[in-house]
Amino acid sequence: MKAKILALLRERSGFVSGQELCERFSVSRTAVWKAVHQLQKEGYQIEAVQNRGYRLTAEPEEDYTQSGLVSRLQTQWAGRPTKFYGELGSTNTQAKLEAENGAGAGTLIVAERQTAGRGRRGRSWSSPAGANLYFTLILRPDFAPDKASMLTLLMAHAAARGIALTLEKAGIGGDRAALGIKWPNDLVAEGRKVCGILTEMSAERDYIQYVVIGVGVNVRKQKFSAEIADRAASLEEVYGCSLSRCALLAEILAQFESDYAAFCETEDLSALRERYNALLINRGREVCVLEPGGEYRGVADGINDAGELLVELADGTVREVFAGEVSVRGVYGYV
Ligand code: ATP
Ligand code: BTN
Repeated sequence: MKAKILALLRERSGFVSGQELCERFSVSRTAVWKAVHQLQKEGYQIEAVQNRGYRLTAEPEEDYTQSGLVSRLQTQWAGRPTKFYGELGSTNTQAKLEAENGAGAGTLIVAERQTAGRGRRGRSWSSPAGANLYFTLILRPDFAPDKASMLTLLMAHAAARGIALTLEKAGIGGDRAALGIKWPNDLVAEGRKVCGILTEMSAERDYIQYVVIGVGVNVRKQKFSAEIADRAASLEEVYGCSLSRCALLAEILAQFESDYAAFCETEDLSALRERYNALLINRGREVCVLEPGGEYRGVADGINDAGELLVELADGTVREVFAGEVSVRGVYGYV
């Protein structure tokens, strides 16, 4: 309710009467007053004038809070509910726990900081406070478990679009906002990683119990550890602008919700394939495919409808590379 009041006050910009708030949200005047008081404590400046109502006059510089986030959501189901934590080991681990305890599809787990953020294959994900996005969305799809790996690509596309739209609103568009996907799960700007995605699933042989899709986006300029400093970058550093983490997260979720609807129609990436391929930085480049059993080189030629990377070998044969245990590198480095 706090978030709904905030969203309405933001939308109107003028006074909104207490009466209207009570009627719209079916609550008492005291409940409205309490919610306004809590928002004021969170740093929102809300004027309260008798016979006129409430007016939002200023927002905290960075309102990365439960209400800040929820008040900006434009989605039907993604992020409903949203659970915002100051600190977690990993939002993916928490999401799995909550999914085991019955949390529904659309539940979003967000943390300001992670103490044990994870990447693929047990790698760690740098997760300091005050700088980045760390969130995990719970899904309960009714398609077969072998389709779930495509969700990582779906989220990569949604995150890339969400980031591009947010940059556009900050006045950075066209070539300046160039952001690419390094198949399957990294978003890359100027050759460095700004976002990673980790999808995990609990399933029976032919039935998915739940899928959790975890996303980390580096937003503010920060000092990365020596190990990742030449590979990692943040959006504000690359694009030289300042971004609202709430707006960015809301935009990514909105994009995911619409991409997911298209995906569910066909249960493959056919509707999205061209748009995904247009963002793929590996496309047309020579890549090195690292498989558990060995490595080989070829030229990447985009994904197929199942999200596999098509790699043409020197002898002209085309391999369909499945994301699972594989990494793809540029021949001369990370991309
Ligand atoms: P691939 O996905 O192609 O196998 P990768 O090296 O990108 O390769 P991931 O498991 O996807 O591996 O991502 C985890 C890696 O990301 C870590 O090993 C680390 O090098 C790097 N990393 C950790 N934290 C961050 C961060 N905040 N931003 C960018 N990169 C990070
Ligand atoms: C990768 O590139 O390997 C994936 C990194 C995924 C990081 C995000 S941050 C939010 C969520 N919680 C985690 O522990 N990992 C994902």
